[in-house]
Amino acid sequence: KAAEKGGFPHFMLKEIFEEPEVLRNALAGRIKNGRANLPEMENVVPAIKRARNVHIVACGTSFHAGLVLKRFLEDYAGLTVEIDVASEFRYRNIHIDENTIVIAVSQSGETADTLEGVRRVKVKGGTVIAVTNVVGSTLARESDVVVYLNAGPEIGVAATKTYVSQLAVLFIIGAYISHLRNEKDEIRQIINELEGMPTIFEGTLSTMNESILQLAKEYYQYRHFMYIGRGYGYPTALEGALKLKEISYIHASAYQAGELKHGPIALLDREFPVFAIVPDDALKAKVLSNIMETRARDAKVVAICTEGDQETGRIVNSRIEVPRVSDPLYPLVMSPYLQLFAYHIAVLRGNDPDKPRNLAKSVTVE
Ligand code: G6P
Repeated sequence: KAAEKGGFPHFMLKEIFEEPEVLRNALAGRIKNGRANLPEMENVVPAIKRARNVHIVACGTSFHAGLVLKRFLEDYAGLTVEIDVASEFRYRNIHIDENTIVIAVSQSGETADTLEGVRRVKVKGGTVIAVTNVVGSTLARESDVVVYLNAGPEIGVAATKTYVSQLAVLFIIGAYISHLRNEKDEIRQIINELEGMPTIFEGTLSTMNESILQLAKEYYQYRHFMYIGRGYGYPTALEGALKLKEISYIHASAYQAGELKHGPIALLDREFPVFAIVPDDALKAKVLSNIMETRARDAKVVAICTEGDQETGRIVNSRIEVPRVSDPLYPLVMSPYLQLFAYHIAVLRGNDPDKPRNLAKSVTVE
C-alpha cells in the first residue's frame, strides 16, 4: 500500500499531485491549431447543429463540473442549457426528442441514477454524449459517443484529479460545440490558456501545499463553514463545500453569494466562518459587498482570489491567491487549493480522507 501511494501519506494527496499530468492527458491531441479537436464526436455533429434542447446530467462532483459547462455553453455557444442531478432528471417529465442533446458526466460511468437518466433519453430518441474516465463502462457502452478523461484510476473516494480532468475535457467539448454553433473569438484565448494549465498546476502544487496546511490549522476546529460564490464561482463554492463535508465531516454549505440575504446570513457569527470564491470577473464587486455583509456579522472570511488582489485582501481574514485566467477557467485553477484545504482539515481532525464514512466511490444502486 505504501508503495502504491508513491511516498504520499494518502491516495487523495497523491492524486491531487497527479493533477498536472492528468491535465496533460486530458488535453493530449485534443487541441489542434488553437481549436478543439475531438474526432470521437464526429458522429454527433449533425445532432449538435440541429439541437434545440441541451441538458447536462450528473451526480456529486461530476454535477459541479457540469455546472461550469452549462455556463460556458451559455457564454460561448449561445445555447440555453438545462442541468439537473441525475436522481431528479430521471423522474422529470421533460420533453426529449431527436433535437435533444444530453451530456452525461460520470467519472465511473456506473452511477445508477445517471445511467437511468441516459436510458430515458435514448428511448425518446435524444443523443447522449458521455464524459467518463472508465473505458468500457456501462455509460460508455450505452451512449452515442464517449469522450474519455484518461485520468487513470482514482482511489480516493472523494473525487479530486478526475474533477480537474472533467473540467478540462468539458471545456474542450464546450469549445467544440461553440465552433459548430456560434464561434466566438474569446474561445481561442481560453483554449490557449487551457494548454498552459498543466504548467500552472505544477507551480501551484509545488509552492502552495505548505501554506494551505497552515491555513487549515487555523480553521480545522470549526463546526460549520459557508462557501459563497457567484457566476463561475458558484460551482466552485459547491465543490469546495462538498469536498470539506465528505472528508472532514464539518457541516459545509454553499450559496450563491447574492442569496445570503434571503436566509443563510442568519446563521453567521464568529463561530461560523465563510469561504468566499472571488475570481476577478464582472461579478467581483458584488461578491465583495456580500463579504462585507458577512463581516458585519463577525464571521471570519477566507477568500480565494486573483494574485495581487489587494481590494479583497483588505476585507478578509485570510486569502489564497491564484493566477489570473479567463473567467471560465477560474473553477479549474482554484480546484487544487480547495481540495488541499479539505484534505488538510480532514487529516488534522484525525480522519482518513481516502475512506470517508458512509460514502462509496461509485453508487451503483438508486
Ligand atoms: C459518489 C462519489 C462522488 C462522485 C459521485 C458521482 O457519490 O463518492 O465522489 O462525485 O459518486 O460519481 P460519478 O462516478 O458518476 O462521477
